Amino acid sequence: MNLEDTHLDVLIKAQKAQGITDRDLIKMAGITVPDLNNLRAGRREPTALERVARTLGLRSESVIALANSNWSAPAVALPATVLKFTTPFADMTVNHYLVWDPKSLKAVAFDAGTDADPFFAALDRHKLTLEKILLTHSHGDHVLELDRIREKTKAEAFAPEAEPVEGCQPVPNAKRFKVGALTITAHTVPGHSVGGTVYEVKGLEAPLAVVGDVLFAGSVGGIRSRYRSALEAIRAGVFSLPPETILLPGHGPVTTVSHELAHNPFFP
Ligand SMILES: [Fe+2]
Repeated sequence: MNLEDTHLDVLIKAQKAQGITDRDLIKMAGITVPDLNNLRAGRREPTALERVARTLGLRSESVIALANSNWSAPAVALPATVLKFTTPFADMTVNHYLVWDPKSLKAVAFDAGTDADPFFAALDRHKLTLEKILLTHSHGDHVLELDRIREKTKAEAFAPEAEPVEGCQPVPNAKRFKVGALTITAHTVPGHSVGGTVYEVKGLEAPLAVVGDVLFAGSVGGIRSRYRSALEAIRAGVFSLPPETILLPGHGPVTTVSHELAHNPFFP
C-alpha cells in the first residue's frame, strides 16, 4: 500500500499548520521564488528541499527520502485476529478495523469506514459478536457506516468526549474497556481533531494501537490546533508506547512506533 502522503503533502501540512506564508518561507529558508515554484512542481532539488524542510522543523533526510521514494512503511504481520478494511472516500480511502479475542470471539470495531459490507462478512465468517464500536474521531469518512453497524450488531458505540457523536457514549482520556480477554485504553491526543483518540490494545500476540488520523506512516493527519503542542501530544500519546507497538492509522499503511520514531519527518 502506498504511503498516505507525498513529500509535498508533508511540506504543505507543516507549513499550513504553522501559519507560515510562502513569502516568509522563502526568506526564512534562504531560497528564491523559482526554487519554491520548482519544489511545488515536483522537482527534487536537494538543497532547496533540505532548507525548506529544516525551516519547517521537519527531519530533512526523511523528506528527501520520501521525495526519492526511498522510504516505505515496514512489513508488519498483523495478529490473526486483527482485520484492516480500506474503504473508498471521494478520491482517497479510509481504514477501519476489526479486532477480536480468539477465545471468546468477542469483537471490537475501530471506526466505521464508508462501506461496512466486507466488515459484516468478516463478522459472519469468524462467528464474532461485536460488543463495542470505538471511534477515533468524528470526521465524516470515519463514521459514515456507524448507524448501519450499530443497527445490525446492537453493539455499544463510543466517541471521544470532546467530539460528541449522536448515539455514542463519551470516551474521556484514560478510559478502559474490556472485550473478552482484551484490554483497551484510550489516550486523548488532540491536534488533527479536538478529541482525537488513540486506542491501545493489549491481550493480543503483539501490542497495538489504533491511531486514527493522529499519525500516519511517514506523516501525520493535518494539524488544526497549536502545532507544537499537537506534536508533543503525539509524542506523549503514541511514541511513549512500547517500540514494537503496531500502529493502525486511519489512512495509508500500518506501521510501528519504532519505525515512526526513526523516520517520521514530523519528529526530527
Ligand atoms: Fe480525520
